[in-house]
Amino acid sequence: ERFIAIVPAAGSGSRMGSERPKQYLDLLGKPVIWHALQTLVAVPRISQVYVVLAPDDAWWPQFDWQLLGGKLTTLHVGGATRAASVSNALACIDAADEDWLLVHDAARACLSGAQVEALIDTLADDAVGGLLAQPVADTLKRADAQGRVCATVPREQLWQAQTPQMFRRGLLRRALAHTDAVTDEAGAVEALGLQPRLVAAEASNFKITWPQDLALAAQILQARED
Ligand code: CTP
Ligand code: MG
Repeated sequence: ERFIAIVPAAGSGSRMGSERPKQYLDLLGKPVIWHALQTLVAVPRISQVYVVLAPDDAWWPQFDWQLLGGKLTTLHVGGATRAASVSNALACIDAADEDWLLVHDAARACLSGAQVEALIDTLADDAVGGLLAQPVADTLKRADAQGRVCATVPREQLWQAQTPQMFRRGLLRRALAHTDAVTDEAGAVEALGLQPRLVAAEASNFKITWPQDLALAAQILQARED
């Protein structure tokens, strides 16, 4: 069995509000997506890294990817939703049903190799698979449309889902064929009645979403280099 990464990067980054999709914005002299790809190709057990691009993506060829080596393959099969982008990629990658797929957001630039290793070590013998996640730190409120609090949601047992999300190819294909109305792979696997395992991760593995997130990501990456 092999470990194969899939990096969906076919979004438009609407919350970032920039003309250029956020995965191609500058982060320490490289496009945002470069950082997660660098981490993934450097994990010895990962044999292949597939990047899922929009069919009309004109940004990718503007950068030099040579430094990242021979594990990278681009697939111009991005869809209308993240789930569609991942489903389309699953249909065309070279993998067996028992191979493990690690699906990772291009926008989580601060993923560390140690977190990927921890995920693989914890799940490699698991019957279902799972994902990196972080316990919720804030008190949570449920509110109505007017912004009035309806309830305080106890944060015990609540986690923020991150990526990579790691499932065997056969299971993930079955799950996404069953439902694609999900915002992550685990959601589709859960819809089959299975229970993905959470592997505790760090806040640094956050998803670059809003403009102010770029400075934070730069700070985290810079501190790691020192
Ligand atoms: N993604 C994708 N295909 C889509 C939508 C998203 O491959 N149709 C990818 C994004 O490129 C990103 C990851 O899924 O790497 C997580 O999605 P998100 O952070 O929501 O990115 P965007 O959808 O681009 O941003 P926004 O929701 O603000 O528009
Ligand atoms: Mg989105």
